Amino acid sequence: MPGYPVLPEGLAYGGDYNPEQWPEEVWQEDVRLMREAGVTLVTVGVFNWGLIEPREGEYDFSRLDRILDLLHSAGVYADLATPTSSPPTWFRRRYPGSRLVDREGHVLGGGSRHSFCPSSPDYAAASERVVAALAARYAGHPAVAMWHVHNEYGWANAHCYCPTSAEAFRAWLRERYGDVGALNAAWGTTFWGLIYGSFDEVEPPVAAPVGLVPGLQLDFMRFSVDAHIACFRRERDTIRRFSDLPVTTNFMIPNCKPMDYWRWAAEVDVVANDHYLDSARADSHIELAMAADLTRSVAGGRPWMLMEHSTGAVNWQPRNLAKRPGEMRRNTLAHVARGSDSAMFFQWRASRYGAEKFHSAMVPHVGTDSGIWRDVVALGADLRALAEVRGARVTAEVAVVWDWESYWALEFEWRPSADLRFRERIEAYYEALWREHVTVDFVHPSADLSPYRLVVAPSAYLLAEAAAKNLHLYVEAGGHLLVSYFSGIVDENDTIHPGPYPGGLRDVLGVAVEEFHPLREHETVTLRSPGSLVPGATGRIWSERVRLAGAGAVREFADGPDAGHPAVTRHDLGAGSAWYVSTALDGESGLRDLVAEVLDHAGVSRPRGLPDTLELVRRGDHLFLINHADAPVTVDGVTGAGVLDGAAYDGSATVPAGGVVVVRT
Ligand code: GAL
Repeated sequence: MPGYPVLPEGLAYGGDYNPEQWPEEVWQEDVRLMREAGVTLVTVGVFNWGLIEPREGEYDFSRLDRILDLLHSAGVYADLATPTSSPPTWFRRRYPGSRLVDREGHVLGGGSRHSFCPSSPDYAAASERVVAALAARYAGHPAVAMWHVHNEYGWANAHCYCPTSAEAFRAWLRERYGDVGALNAAWGTTFWGLIYGSFDEVEPPVAAPVGLVPGLQLDFMRFSVDAHIACFRRERDTIRRFSDLPVTTNFMIPNCKPMDYWRWAAEVDVVANDHYLDSARADSHIELAMAADLTRSVAGGRPWMLMEHSTGAVNWQPRNLAKRPGEMRRNTLAHVARGSDSAMFFQWRASRYGAEKFHSAMVPHVGTDSGIWRDVVALGADLRALAEVRGARVTAEVAVVWDWESYWALEFEWRPSADLRFRERIEAYYEALWREHVTVDFVHPSADLSPYRLVVAPSAYLLAEAAAKNLHLYVEAGGHLLVSYFSGIVDENDTIHPGPYPGGLRDVLGVAVEEFHPLREHETVTLRSPGSLVPGATGRIWSERVRLAGAGAVREFADGPDAGHPAVTRHDLGAGSAWYVSTALDGESGLRDLVAEVLDHAGVSRPRGLPDTLELVRRGDHLFLINHADAPVTVDGVTGAGVLDGAAYDGSATVPAGGVVVVRT
């Protein structure tokens, strides 16, 4: 089994390298600058199909030969990409049946990348041919350290609704259900009398006059994941015929909702991820931390690769903000702190033309007399100093439940409130934990939960019976569980668990919910300690009538539709406890306090008294302190050697404003 690490030593540093956009004189400067910055790995050839196969079956590898030879002579390794995310213009004309069709039935145009149907047999044949030619030619090339299959599966063409996809979907359903009666039972098609007489009657969930069968929608999402995984496997297995080097593809965790990355993880030799900050967020570094923790969790705790991020602004958001001083460094080192063994960017040199010319790069349009270039060179030095963290693991006492199927199902149409959003609740809880300086893993609800003191399920609407049982057994065995409202409601077919809500979690939580009372937009409710007259936390979005069935009330509603009834409950069960929160609490308006209370109850260790703008993560023997505030912060109890600054810390460390300190403890 081809293994990790991909490079002989150190953390990989570099980015997407697209020299085909430049005259060859520039390439010489490129490699000179790569050496200056300490670049060790570049991703080459991601969008090269039209260049290496200019006409069907005719290959021209001369340019790629020269590029790989040049990189090798400069001591830079290549992450060699298969070019299949951007089929050549001839392919589209020659194989019109491979065109991507959207939900409304529009055939999507060319003149772009990702414009193909993932189930197309013509695409399968053509992509396999070009990958075989590429792998055969470069399997033994000394510059090549690893293979990068395709680019961001399922981002732009997650779902295709063309006749070929419809047929492939029906074949997938036949395989899953065997007979159509089983499909009807799973999807509950007696509702509206939508009983399928045969698999041939099933259509993909194209735009319809009103709500669609939820089971149909869920299975189409699952089928589409499988369609893309099949594309990946075809390429990976083709490469395997020629090479034993590690094979990966770049995920987009957590920003590609349609891809179930728990399923993807088993396919790659090393998990690689692309992450870009959302300019619209005030604290986008917290979302970054979440993405990195989720990526590490998808990787099963093993080191992973940050395959793309940006030195500055991207070009595809409504307002593309440049990074503030020190922000790129903080971003990169936060990914490394959370388990990445690489720091890669899109892209090496900013393009002069094409759709992404306003995207930042390691070498910006302005050239090397620039803040970005100086930061790129300085980051290279940081990463060399951090070579010793390679391979080290991050451990967590707390896990957050994340299930892509629940994400999809919660956000289908016709839920009790449009404000029920999967990431909204996950991020609220994640942020509260981040600000308490608690590092978390993410888990699928059926995963082994025994390593954790506390498991938090902020949004687990869909919960299969076995997964619900897993949570129950975890608590009985001494675990602590914190669940937010509208969790444990349906099974894997989007069918409501029988009895009072939340059927999947009723017993473990020791509550029964009689009726949901969603709130109006901007409406809030007040909580208080049971029997107290002092108003406490404020809730949004949700209220519901909770009846105690074993649990005790920790907070009650002081007003709103459920005034006087439980709002937060705790059920002591076996050696553990299960907490339930039936409204949307936010950071300063109650969630931080509640999370701190639950962490204490669960015995989760964490530093106290630090500002909630300080990011603190331990990776192996190294403590990363990342200061997101404009003032320095002193952290007590830190003893060891400063890896980036060479300082000796004896009892405390001061992290400069916006700075990063890494201590080998
Ligand atoms: C990624 C993609 C890159 C580039 C980048 C820009 O999603 O893989 O090719 O487009 O975004 O931010």
